[in-house]
Amino acid sequence: MESSSLISFSLILCFTLLFFGSNGVEARSYSSISSLITENLYNSIFLHKDDNACPARNFYPYNAFIQAAKCFPKFGNTGDLDTRKREIAAFLAQISQETTGGWATAPDGPYAWGLCFKEEISPQSNYCDTTNKRWPCFRGKSYHGRGPIQLSWNYNYGPAGRAVGFDGLRNPEIVANNSLIAFKTALWFWMTEQKPKPSCHDVMVGKYVPIAADLAANRTAGYGLVTNIINGGLECGRPDDARVNGRIGFFQRYAQLFNVDTGDNLDCANQRPF
Ligand SMILES: *[C@@H]1O[C@H](CO)[C@@H](O)[C@H](O)[C@H]1NC(C)=O
Ligand SMILES: *[C@@H]1O[C@H](CO)[C@@H](O)[C@H](O)[C@H]1NC(C)=O
Repeated sequence: MESSSLISFSLILCFTLLFFGSNGVEARSYSSISSLITENLYNSIFLHKDDNACPARNFYPYNAFIQAAKCFPKFGNTGDLDTRKREIAAFLAQISQETTGGWATAPDGPYAWGLCFKEEISPQSNYCDTTNKRWPCFRGKSYHGRGPIQLSWNYNYGPAGRAVGFDGLRNPEIVANNSLIAFKTALWFWMTEQKPKPSCHDVMVGKYVPIAADLAANRTAGYGLVTNIINGGLECGRPDDARVNGRIGFFQRYAQLFNVDTGDNLDCANQRPF
């Protein structure tokens, strides 16, 4: 009962998205990513997400991830088998660094603790960019990091909500309260180009074409460029950043579990941020 109402709820939202945001040909060729990432593989990646020590325990179940992915038919479904696996591994690695509960000597190593948090602890601000008139902040609301990608800022909550079917500006809290919506916001961020940044998806599937400014900034395709898209302003263009190293460590562990290589350019130390 519960899971079938979840599916029809998500189908309604997905239809909206497919109708406006995708094209029917690719939607028809959709095949589920659950054959590439089984529940067993998912659980062996996120060994500790449901530990008592993790504030997000029980918030990130396999089914919510798979259901959310169905709304983004190109995710993990573009290119050859290795490309598909590498993209999924990269996505899971990035959301792991965003939500990690690991530390250097943690049980099973630092990279077995992704998806431990669902909400930023003690945010420094409400992450309201008052200069953004298109997505104005709502009185008393905070747009701090929530969900797998730690969605932040009014200018991300607004469009993410419009794309996946919630009021991001009036009801940002739902990203930390609803597992399906939480995963959809992370996938929305991953799949959506926000100029001048390409989408993380396009980078991982080889569709990114650098312009002159990108070449001058060393923004070469690879996992390091995805890090640059997600948090380059704080992490890229500096040597040996611990957060960047964490993102790489997750990716290397996951790529091994998916039995795929990571590709080149894992780092963004030599890239200028966007
Ligand atoms: C929703 O999330 C907020 C944190 O953003 C929390 O304070 C609140 O209790 C949650 N509400 C429900 C119904 O889970
Ligand atoms: C590009 O990378 C090279 C090293 O590969 C470095 O010497 C150069 O400073 C980088 N350029 C920028 C703009 O960061």
